[in-house]
Amino acid sequence: MGVIRKTVLPAAGLGTRFLPATKASPKEMLPLVDKPLIQYAVEESILAGIEEFVVITGKDKRAIEDHFDSAFMLEERLKSTGKDKMLAEITKLNHASFAYIRQRQALGLGHAILCARPFVGDEAFAVILSDDVIDPDYPLLRKMISLYKKTASPVIALEEVPDDRVNRYGIVDGELADGVFEIRDLVEKPPIGRAPSNLAIIGRYILTQDVFDHLAKVKPGAGGEIQLTDALRSLAKKRPIFGIPIKGKRFDAGEKLGFLEATVELSLRSPELGPAFAEYLRKRFCTPA
Ligand code: G1P
Repeated sequence: MGVIRKTVLPAAGLGTRFLPATKASPKEMLPLVDKPLIQYAVEESILAGIEEFVVITGKDKRAIEDHFDSAFMLEERLKSTGKDKMLAEITKLNHASFAYIRQRQALGLGHAILCARPFVGDEAFAVILSDDVIDPDYPLLRKMISLYKKTASPVIALEEVPDDRVNRYGIVDGELADGVFEIRDLVEKPPIGRAPSNLAIIGRYILTQDVFDHLAKVKPGAGGEIQLTDALRSLAKKRPIFGIPIKGKRFDAGEKLGFLEATVELSLRSPELGPAFAEYLRKRFCTPA
């Protein structure tokens, strides 16, 4: 108990909100500035000390495997042309290990996590939904792991959302003590006006392996899918589950507007692009017409 060694990355969704871009290529490969969405999740895990990944994929997701594979010819070309910075950039994740599992049917997030069971075994593990992009400078996963180490209990990330958006998230009911929520109940995508709070589950979880038994038993819930939230609801009846309200910025890059916001924010922070992009924005918005 204690060490979290693996992150499960569900990546089997159809990405319908980004059609036509996602017709034949994975939503997880959409580039935010200069890296695909899923790479942000991988780098966030590595910063928190996790270097093994279980990616749940589906049809048309091969590009994800290629992206995290070594690219021998490209590496040789960069070496021979002295492009050392670029070479370092494309090889910096080569030490991480990746396993890929196909989710054969699109039965929902809970089912996707259940597919990881044979690879995760008896250990607690992290889950990152790469749609939710967290401020790369905010050590959320590290905080979650440290709470898990203290409590040996599942930990999920939470954020307050406006009342008219509760129906897009898993919503929790709980008690706040010393900055941490002890979660009493969880509801997946409650109708507006019927949510127990406006504290939404954000796509970061530390899960204990007993969640698999609950995932195997839950019936299809919201949207007719096997929901991770429903399994956690059933687990919360048996053991404590904690929630950490996030402090850094979070972008819902699973939606076009959130994706654009993340692009602007991360571009402005890029040492290479930030100053020129800020100048462009100043000219665009501050120059009198
Ligand atoms: C999933 C979860 C939901 C959570 C959300 C966070 O929903 O089922 O509980 O609040 O991620 O992004 P999805 O966005 O896949 O519909």
